[in-house]
Amino acid sequence: MVGSDFIHQDFQRRLREIPAQGMGLSVDVYSPDLFELVNRFRERGLQPGYLEIFKATTTALTKVRQAVPDLPLAYHGEGLWITQPDVQASPFFQQDLDEVAMQLNSIQSLWLNHECAIKQMGGYSFGTYVPPLYTPLSAQVVAGNIAMVQQAMDRRSARADGTAPLFLLEMPPLTYFSAGTMPIPDFFWLVTASTPCGLVLDIGHLWTVYRYTAVCRRVSLERFVAEFLAAFPLERVVEIHVAGLACHESADQPKGGEELPEWIDAHAAPIPLILFTMLEQVLAHPNLVSLRAVALEVDTKPIELILEEYAEAVRRFSLLVQQAMARETSGGRVKETTRRPASVQEPACQPDRQQLCDDYARYAQIISGQAPIAGPEWQEVAMEASGLTRYRTSYLPHEILHWGGDLEGMFPQACRALAERGVCLPEFVDFWFQSPRPLTHSYDFFLLKIERFFEFVTERAPDMRVSVQQECDLLRLAYAQANDVGESITEMERAG
Ligand SMILES: [Fe+2]
Repeated sequence: MVGSDFIHQDFQRRLREIPAQGMGLSVDVYSPDLFELVNRFRERGLQPGYLEIFKATTTALTKVRQAVPDLPLAYHGEGLWITQPDVQASPFFQQDLDEVAMQLNSIQSLWLNHECAIKQMGGYSFGTYVPPLYTPLSAQVVAGNIAMVQQAMDRRSARADGTAPLFLLEMPPLTYFSAGTMPIPDFFWLVTASTPCGLVLDIGHLWTVYRYTAVCRRVSLERFVAEFLAAFPLERVVEIHVAGLACHESADQPKGGEELPEWIDAHAAPIPLILFTMLEQVLAHPNLVSLRAVALEVDTKPIELILEEYAEAVRRFSLLVQQAMARETSGGRVKETTRRPASVQEPACQPDRQQLCDDYARYAQIISGQAPIAGPEWQEVAMEASGLTRYRTSYLPHEILHWGGDLEGMFPQACRALAERGVCLPEFVDFWFQSPRPLTHSYDFFLLKIERFFEFVTERAPDMRVSVQQECDLLRLAYAQANDVGESITEMERAG
């Protein structure tokens, strides 16, 4: 068995290959248009220290690399469901890994950042991330999967000097609830004790952990952050994210009064001032000794707002960020100030993996309302069920019916014909989750919506098969063309 000291030394060896980046942006190639964004920054005399780019087509990423040869780039991955005990058995996993390696290489990425979260589990699919089950077994599985991805990167994305991008695991946001049997910081301790990954601490995600766990009824936000940071493996944090928070469009209007707002992670929304206060507290922490970069995460945000917030963040934090990046340990892990959970664990055995597969299938059934809230991981959720109820009755239906493709916009004819037959669209939400189904391609929520809606319509109204098939074909064609157009737009902009 490999000791935790060895694992931490391996992390430090990999960390040494990552130069300090300072403050930068985590962006999407298309939304807002990355080339326009960079130009607008230049016009203002601003230059982000680095860009972390969300997964796009490899062609688009290659063009970005060529267009900004002077900017360090990093990669924000998507679709490697490392929380899942059966991910390595997925028929698409090797293909997904190949794509990750190719994309890392195309931008000469500093690292691979991936959320510790899922959109597909136990045969059920979601449009936005749900957090992992916070249990020791789940941490063990995450660590094992990360080790395997890191090995693949070491082989396929090695640079000329033999080094490879480092896997960074991002603590995900909570969207109204969290399930598990252990505190979230302990979960990340278990993961980092077993694998040499780095971490991304997202300040807005941290706020949602306060908001949607029982701790917000017990202590102040400042006290929560202090306690959380004391227990979290902060010395593994390589990057910090700051993004917007907002109430979801499906939620009721905020009531005002004493209660904390029901904000969730919202990259298009302005960054609330409270997150900057939290950032200050994090940057000042003595255990933050591996920091290399701080990014405002700005995909889908209006460019004017990005410029304004970035200029303000640089003014307020660049010195603090420099000071934090200069902080080092004298070697080994930082002084242990609080209780630490057990160190390196054995890899999960097959019966445990099967158990966790079953737990995740039940997780999907519980949060979609197909199964009752029961079991040790769900005790805290059951005590304060309003969060999960909000997720289940408004957030999730909105995701299936409107998010990432509005059904009435996608299928105008079929929706009209269903309405005439008395079939209500919300029935599609139950249909979506009524049973697990094998994956037919790598994760793509838009294509999945088309596939599932076709099945729904042909089950409820078999006579509509031909007409709905036509709408599906048109959508798939338009989707493929939109991707091609995206390619040619970036081509034109590069030429211009
Ligand atoms: Fe983030």
